[in-house]
Amino acid sequence: MSTEALAPQLQDASLGASIQQQVVTIIDDLFAQLRDPKALTSDERRGIIARYSSVLEGNFIYWMTATYLATDSEEARPILIENLYEEVRESHPVMLRKFTIGANAFPTDTDSLAVDADLTKVRLFLGKLQGVQSLLTMAFFESFIQRFMPYLADLAVAQGSTELEYTDVHGVCDVAHSEGLFRATALEMTRHPLGAESDLFEGVDLLRNLILHSIIQDPAAKLAA
Ligand SMILES: [Fe+2]
Repeated sequence: MSTEALAPQLQDASLGASIQQQVVTIIDDLFAQLRDPKALTSDERRGIIARYSSVLEGNFIYWMTATYLATDSEEARPILIENLYEEVRESHPVMLRKFTIGANAFPTDTDSLAVDADLTKVRLFLGKLQGVQSLLTMAFFESFIQRFMPYLADLAVAQGSTELEYTDVHGVCDVAHSEGLFRATALEMTRHPLGAESDLFEGVDLLRNLILHSIIQDPAAKLAA
């Protein structure tokens, strides 16, 4: 391969690494706000698992599919497809449901409604089919979820559960997978540069808000305060 042909790839890799660093900072900030599972009441632990499940069980495959529809990058599409195959073949929604029931945290109507406003914002954002921003949102989520799994497992164990297949499967650190999505974001951005009015972190911010304000924190408790 000539140096000329290699140059854009290196550019994408370094742009990807710089975007990845910004996302890592956002995730670090999110983790700094997590409370020790042992310091939470049983109700609070149940609530986090229930709201997480309420958001993820029916939506993750939808989010990944929306991102696939929005992107045309050669590097991104196989990563998204591989992820979708895995989700469907191994039925990760079944795994998540077992995990949630095992922890006695199956979502109630109150849990579903508590996440509704922030979840709707993420759905509508993905519906705009913006390849670059959608890919970055999924890259952010992939990075977040691996680090979040031990915490989620601790919550379930503290609730007396031993059903941990979901957190075991998703806690395996797939660095290549995450980095691939960051590189793909940069590649897609090279092909479809964002206009001055576009916000690269639009979806990341919305998903971060959903995770922090509607899953980790209890929106109902905030209203009651
Ligand atoms: Fe999954």
